[in-house]
Amino acid sequence: MKKQFLKFFSVACVCAAATAPAFAANCSVEVESNDAMQFNTKAISVPASCKDFTVKLKHVGKMPKSAMGHNWVLSKTADMQGVGTDGIAAGADKNYLKPGDTRVIAHTKLIGGGESDSVTFAVSKLKAGEDYTFFCSFPGHSGLMKGALTLAK
Ligand code: CO
Repeated sequence: MKKQFLKFFSVACVCAAATAPAFAANCSVEVESNDAMQFNTKAISVPASCKDFTVKLKHVGKMPKSAMGHNWVLSKTADMQGVGTDGIAAGADKNYLKPGDTRVIAHTKLIGGGESDSVTFAVSKLKAGEDYTFFCSFPGHSGLMKGALTLAK
């Protein structure tokens, strides 16, 4: 009986260990994009307790990336315009981002309908109180496809 209890206990311990990554689930978010030029979220909160944060971008539409491409780009809100303008100049081959743009904190590649991509970045790159915006840098998309990202306590 005691042995059985111990066995149960050890299984419970394994469970608890397996739950640790579930806590880390708060350190990632899935963002959907579609053929209507929209993200399904307007705000992302990044817990300061996370070491890294992962954004999984899904394109749930059917249109090709040449016509309705989406990426997920993070910058300070103040940098968004410049990143977008330089990105359009860089072109589709460069995911509509200027190569080596230091204003870009994190970004996925450009994807089309049915595709997905993810990006993981160090939460230490974010400062409390700073305004960050995530957006799609495909030409003409950032007006609709943007949202706020904040570092939560
Ligand atoms: Co887009």
